[in-house]
This record gives sequence, structure tokens and C-alpha cells, in this order.
Amino acid sequence: MNILVTGGAGYIGSVVTEECIAAGHTAFVIDDLSKGHEWMVHPDAELTVGNIGDRELVTNLLRTKRIDAVIHMAAASLVGESMTDPAKYYSNNVTAGAALLDSMIEAGVKKIIFSSTAATYGEPEKQPIEETDRTQPTNPYGESKLAFEKILFWYAHAYDLRYVSLRYFNAAGATKRCGELHDPETHLIPLVLRAATGEAEAINIFGDTYTTKDGTCIRDYIHVSDLAKAHVLALKKLESGSSIYNLGLSGGFSVMEVIEAARRVTGRDIPTHVSPKRPGDPAVLIASSARIKDELGWEPEFTTMEQIIQTAWDWKLANEEQASEAGS
Ligand code: UFG
Repeated sequence: MNILVTGGAGYIGSVVTEECIAAGHTAFVIDDLSKGHEWMVHPDAELTVGNIGDRELVTNLLRTKRIDAVIHMAAASLVGESMTDPAKYYSNNVTAGAALLDSMIEAGVKKIIFSSTAATYGEPEKQPIEETDRTQPTNPYGESKLAFEKILFWYAHAYDLRYVSLRYFNAAGATKRCGELHDPETHLIPLVLRAATGEAEAINIFGDTYTTKDGTCIRDYIHVSDLAKAHVLALKKLESGSSIYNLGLSGGFSVMEVIEAARRVTGRDIPTHVSPKRPGDPAVLIASSARIKDELGWEPEFTTMEQIIQTAWDWKLANEEQASEAGS
């Protein structure tokens, strides 16, 4: 298939592009490079620098490259930022996203895989979280992703569009070529590794009085390659219909467990500092990934925190130079 990956220069997008190419698809990337890195785009994928909201550009791209399906990953994705700048989230994730869909309809492209999030659930009523559970986001980021899912539902009904929405839990780890490199970095594992190398004095633990086994928050971390492989399976699902799937390991690790695993992997001392809870952080978020396992036969390859952190650590050591240039 000819696939257009929006946001294919980003952390997850670059790995999804890799997996599509490895599966024999032809990949094209559109990215405005506001967050992504040109060097992370797979060398066999043609990059168009531009915005998904640009109707003329996107419609033309879909037509000339004879795109069969879109994997839509371009988005603003920081929970904290969305609280202070909701306009950016509605503009990028809803308005520009809807323009992308309109370009698809105009060009006759009827298949889309959407990067959604666990943030659509908000504070969960039970664990593990199932796709049928209540969605009540607690921040504009989650709201914007849920709004787009609703647009997909109605567009599917009216315009014969097929979609798979993948609700990611915590993506982590790296492939040989691509790893996590945000500016600013807010995610736990890359920050823990910065504390391991001494780039940061310590890792701040956001609260240690949650009602969990060690008082720190529990999250469901999933290796980025396993996440990416689910997109390739979802492309097949689009042949038969639309669906929504959670994507996690169906298990949880506390912040302290992540730090301890990183100490074992790196062999370094990782100093910690307990700071106040981060607003909006639920205590526990664990996915039920039973639906995607049953329906698409998805199985994760990386199942321990050590395995996941080892890949992130290897990537960091091998890409120190590019990482520090991008971070400077
Ligand atoms: N944490 C720390 N210290 C840090 C950074 C994070 O203690 O310096 C903690 C957080 O409080 C949280 C856990 O580590 O308990 C993981 O935090 P991340 O920022 O790495 O990830 P989040 O769980 O906040 O966010 C992820 C995705 C979002 C998505 C969300 C769903 O990155 O896009 O899961 O809830 F919306």
C-alpha cells in the first residue's frame, strides 16, 4: 500500500514509518518539523514539509502519490501545555485534523489510522481500562483527541470512511535509528536517563503519596516498536471495518520501579528528588489490550521494563551528538 504518515518526523511517527517500510509498504511523510526531526525520517520515505491543515497541499499529495491509507500522528501532545494553551490543541488536533479528513474525502482516500491516547479516558473508574469504559478527559489534550474520534465516527457514517483509532498508553524505548527526543522533554524515561548521565542533577519524582504500592504513579509502558507494529496490523483491519483499540502492555510500573530498572540497566547511580504531584496525573493507568490481541493477533515483543529501557539507553549513547544538538 502507499501510506501517508502525518507527523512521520516525530518520535512515534518515525518508528511507524520504519515498520510500514519493513512490512513492504511505500511510505510518504508529511511533517511541519515544528517538533519532529528531519534526520529521523526514514531514508526511503519521501518527506513533504508542510501542515496537514493545508487543503491544497494535502489533497495534491494524496492524489499524486496515489495514497491508499493515512496514518495520522501529527498533533500537539503535551498535557500540561494543553491546560495553558487549549487553543493550540483545538487548532492542531481538531481543526487541522478535520481539514486533513476533508482533503482525504476530496481525493477519494477512505482509510485512516489515528493516534489517539489514554488521555481520552480521564480519571478511570476501574483498571485495566477497556475501550468501552467511560471517556471523560481531564485536559484539553484528551478532549481534542476524543473530539477527533467523534469526527471519525460521523465521517465514517456519512462518507464511507474506515478508521482505526489506537489509544496509546505510555510509549517508550527506541529502535536502532529512532528514539525519544522532545524539546522540552517532559517524559519520564528520557529524563531518568539524563539523570543517569549527569546531564540532570536528579530525577524529580512527582509525588510519592499516591495510593499505590510505593506511593508513586503507575503507568502502562509499551515499547515504541510494538506500538508501531500494531499500526501495520490495523492497516489490514481497515479492509473489514472500523474500530478503537487500546495499546499497552496490560501491566503497570511505578515511577520508582522505572528508576530502579534504569539503575540496573545503566549501572549508574540515579539521584532522585521528590517534588509535588503534577496537576492532572491519575494515580494508575493500565490498559486492557485484550481487544487488539483477540481481533488483530497483536502481541508485544518487549515485556519487561529492563528490555524497554535498554533500547532507550543504547539509542541515547549512540546518538549523543544529535541529541545534544537538538536539545541545545
Ligand atoms: N514523572 C515524574 N517525573 C518526571 C516526569 C514524569 O515523576 O520528571 C511521572 C509522571 O508524574 C507520571 C509518569 O512519570 O506518573 C509518566 O509521566 P510521562 O510524562 O512520561 O507520561 P504521562 O503518563 O504523563 O503521559 C503519557 C503520554 C500522554 C498521554 C498520557 C495518557 O505522554 O501523551 O500518557 O495519560 F496523554
